[in-house]
Amino acid sequence: MTTIATAPSPYAPPAAPSRAQGLVALYLAITALVLALLMVFGLLMRASQAGVITLPPALFYQLLTAHGIGMVAISGLGGAGVMWYFLSRYVSLTPGILVANLVFFLVGVVLVLGAIFIAYAVRIYVDYSDALARRTFRYSIVYLAALFAALLVDHYL
Ligand code: HEM
Repeated sequence: MTTIATAPSPYAPPAAPSRAQGLVALYLAITALVLALLMVFGLLMRASQAGVITLPPALFYQLLTAHGIGMVAISGLGGAGVMWYFLSRYVSLTPGILVANLVFFLVGVVLVLGAIFIAYAVRIYVDYSDALARRTFRYSIVYLAALFAALLVDHYL
């Protein structure tokens, strides 16, 4: 009986490096969390437009801005992770680039959130009102809570 030896298919994709797989999982976890949060913002806006809840105009536009910018940005991050995963099965990619992309993204997020807080602080300095001070306090509390939530997520990933 003759056995025919089959050569490995040139089209079989090599497995992605395991460290990079963990990074891709981190990309997707961040994307899922941010998408869920921004969808809640979207649903709040829809509910307000339908008259189910009442949002003050200032808060509505804050949610709109965060939703719009956030959705576009997180689509970019999630898309990069998915593309990296599939490309890395066919060509050799440097995991460092994936790390650098994530670090730049997160530094960008921190800079934007920090800039908003500084803008609140400057407005309080230039044109103080109790309402503005309350809004600044609310922003700093939400920011701090989000920071701790991110640390918690980071701990378990
Ligand atoms: C559960 C899912 C979603 C809901 C309920 C939702 C809801 C909304 C609502 C109510 C608005 C305001 C529309 C208006 O001006 O009247 C809006 C704006 C917008 N949404 Fe969504 N959305 C969802 C998902 C997405 C996704 C997946 C993306 C992009 C990847 C996206 C991108 C945007 C953008 C760019 C705007 C415009 C923001 C601006 O004008 O500053 N949304 N969305």
